Amino acid sequence: MLRIVVLKITFYFLCYVLTLCCAAPPDVAKEPSEINANLDARMVLFQDCGSIYDILELSITGCVQTPCKLQLGALVAVNAEFNDYGEDVHVLKHDAYWVLNAVNTKASVTPQACDGKSCPFRGDEGLAFTANLYINMTLPALRGTLFWEVYNESEERVMCYKVPISLMVP
Ligand SMILES: *[C@@H]1O[C@H](CO)[C@@H](O)[C@H](O)[C@H]1NC(C)=O
Ligand SMILES: *[C@@H]1O[C@H](CO)[C@@H](O)[C@H](O)[C@H]1NC(C)=O
Repeated sequence: MLRIVVLKITFYFLCYVLTLCCAAPPDVAKEPSEINANLDARMVLFQDCGSIYDILELSITGCVQTPCKLQLGALVAVNAEFNDYGEDVHVLKHDAYWVLNAVNTKASVTPQACDGKSCPFRGDEGLAFTANLYINMTLPALRGTLFWEVYNESEERVMCYKVPISLMVP
């Protein structure tokens, strides 16, 4: 027992020393979205896949770190804040996919489009939208990617983000 404790302490000490000596220098080449994501624990670390608008913040209910653990059968809220650079966008159409084992499956998003008096709305940092994402029971419990595209009223893709996810059996 004592030996295990001593070994454990030695291990943690070595890890500590290693972190001190070998910590990588801050990665200046990181995408801005990733840097932002690190500042706020509620935020989901996502990968931007060619947004025209600037995605300032993304959150998914219950996801504090990626891969986001999502339970089959659950309904989660996805919130995003963004800067439309003065485009005055009034319609956002969602097109989301699960990529699991290289198979794309359409994700169920409600409402499918954000349009109306209150959407997009003004968030803490910019414009914002909220959509519900249903994790269909028929999906396989696998690790993969949530691939989410947002189109404007002229069918131009204005936002695109990818989130590592892990689907779990409840
Ligand atoms: C939507 O896309 C069109 C087509 O590119 C573009 O001209 C327009 O400025 C965009 N509108 C908004 C509100 O982003
Ligand atoms: C769940 O998946 C099944 C089978 O793919 C499909 O028929 C059904 O419409 C889906 N439900 C929702 C709410 O998307």
